[in-house]
Amino acid sequence: MLHNIPELVKKRMKYLEKLDAEDRVNKTPRMERLRQIPPETGKFLAILAAGAPKGNFIEIGTSAGYSTMWITLACIERDCKITTFEILEEKIRLAKETFQQSKLEEYVNLIGGDARDFLKAEKNVSFCFLDAEKEIYEDCYDLVVPNMVKGGLLVADNAINLYDVLKPMIDKTLVDKRVDALIVPIGKGELVCRKI
Ligand SMILES: C[S@@+](CC[C@H](N)C(=O)[O-])C[C@H]1O[C@@H](n2cnc3c(N)ncnc32)[C@H](O)[C@@H]1O
Repeated sequence: MLHNIPELVKKRMKYLEKLDAEDRVNKTPRMERLRQIPPETGKFLAILAAGAPKGNFIEIGTSAGYSTMWITLACIERDCKITTFEILEEKIRLAKETFQQSKLEEYVNLIGGDARDFLKAEKNVSFCFLDAEKEIYEDCYDLVVPNMVKGGLLVADNAINLYDVLKPMIDKTLVDKRVDALIVPIGKGELVCRKI
């Protein structure tokens, strides 16, 4: 999977990595920035998603579709789709461009709007990547966990670099008897929860 990344996907990944790096030095306003995961987190997500049990893949916080592309590598291998949610119009436009240019459209269902309005209807979730505003992590966790299949994985970004903000949510997952959870020190810190 990681040895055979399609050329068009690699090209778009490089382009978005450059935009994201420029955002960070140009002092682009926060809501306009792409705020993407680093490549090592992308590889981690692809490997976890490839081995997830049978079920549906979702992502909360698409931005320009960079993390979606990594997870989609697992979708190509498993011949399945990911549903990804994004609230901002400009990010939706960029994400559409990403999936079109990298020829991944058949693997991605992009939904515009507040993910919380749709999550109750997302059943049999076997893989979820949570990477939206940190204030909504707990709401999303509460909506997704009841709909996860046994062995399904929920991975939440920024568990180390934004630990102080996320502490209440992280503490809740660590004592939640419905999941086994831990923080993996990769990228910005990934909280990994496995449904029991
Ligand atoms: C950190 S960025 C996501 C980066 C992306 N996962 C990546 O690594 O390429 C967070 C994104 O979540 C989106 N977002 C915030 N709140 C949301 C909500 N309630 N529903 C859907 N998307 C939301 C933001 O607009 C932003 O684009």
